[in-house]
Amino acid sequence: MKKILVTGGAGYIGSHTVLALHKKGYDVAIVDNLSTSCKGSVAALEKLTGKCIPFYETDIRNEEEMTDILKREHPDAVIHFAAFSLVGESVSNPLKYYENNLYGTEKLLKAMLTAGTDKIVFSSTAAVYGEPKHIPIVETDKTEPTNPYGETKLAMEKMFRWTANAGNLSYVSLRYFNACGADASGLIGEAHNPETHLIPCILRVANGQEQFVRIFGTDYPTADGTCVRDYIHVTDLADAHVLAVEYLLGGGKSDIFNLGNGQGFSVRQIVETVRAVTHHPIPQQIAPRRAGDPAVLVASSQKAREVLGWNPQLFRPQDIVASAWKWHQTHPNGYKNEP
Ligand code: UFG
Repeated sequence: MKKILVTGGAGYIGSHTVLALHKKGYDVAIVDNLSTSCKGSVAALEKLTGKCIPFYETDIRNEEEMTDILKREHPDAVIHFAAFSLVGESVSNPLKYYENNLYGTEKLLKAMLTAGTDKIVFSSTAAVYGEPKHIPIVETDKTEPTNPYGETKLAMEKMFRWTANAGNLSYVSLRYFNACGADASGLIGEAHNPETHLIPCILRVANGQEQFVRIFGTDYPTADGTCVRDYIHVTDLADAHVLAVEYLLGGGKSDIFNLGNGQGFSVRQIVETVRAVTHHPIPQQIAPRRAGDPAVLVASSQKAREVLGWNPQLFRPQDIVASAWKWHQTHPNGYKNEP
């Protein structure tokens, strides 16, 4: 049986990917320093899979420990999620992002090379493109990040490219658009603190945890004046990671893929969808634009469909919101208060 080591496996996209790997018959081990996640997700995964999942509370910057773990677990590939991912925070504290995302990944790569693990699938982001010149965005478009988060992810991609070029490893970089939704079981889902993402922020209003949702900017050059995003269900994202691992294990060459649905929805459309799903009026307040938000981000994922055979299923906004609502209703405070 093939084994995959997942860094950041206790986090939002990481935990859904651990589940997807299990469903496809892979053994999994998790490394996570729990800085933005908690062990409740691992407990939920063990419940869902009926398996004891090896878990290492380790920081990827600890090269020695990472080398030991890789030697002990001897994975066929690594999927690397462990990183900070808040655009606003990266602008106010850029070095935090360089330290964890870039330096941490360098340490991880060194540990992998020492331990003889030579395949990695890595979370990148739409933020590497910055303000797009045309829609939908394709992988060959110019990369001009407008914040340190996107900048560190792009630098990580380049570090992978040069390391692969030196003949030392093969990698797949997956550039996500707007990850959202939750596993159909309702046992794992999105749990950030603080929460900044649109769908969970609106659902906090439906849950009575907030009075209203703020709409950041209504003067964008879009049909209804609010930002348009490409919302991609976390279960579809998780499937793409499994396909990327299979691609590398099958001898596929290093490459970069966008992951989105290719369809844009505005902030107002998402608020309306949440109203329809939750039957809550969702009071709203119009607020100024949030710094660094591009007007429209929509992906072309043609390449992932053609090369990886990826076929996202959960693309209807009402299905995405319904799955997230199931999770947030039963876990209003994330994994806190889990038995
Ligand atoms: N928004 C609101 N109110 C809120 C929260 C968000 O109006 O309370 C708006 C934002 O301004 C944006 C849209 O909803 O227009 C989506 O915002 P999110 O914070 O949910 O997601 P982002 O588009 O900012 O973030 C995504 C990815 C990041 C990536 C970024 C690139 O999650 O990893 O796109 O711009 F870096």
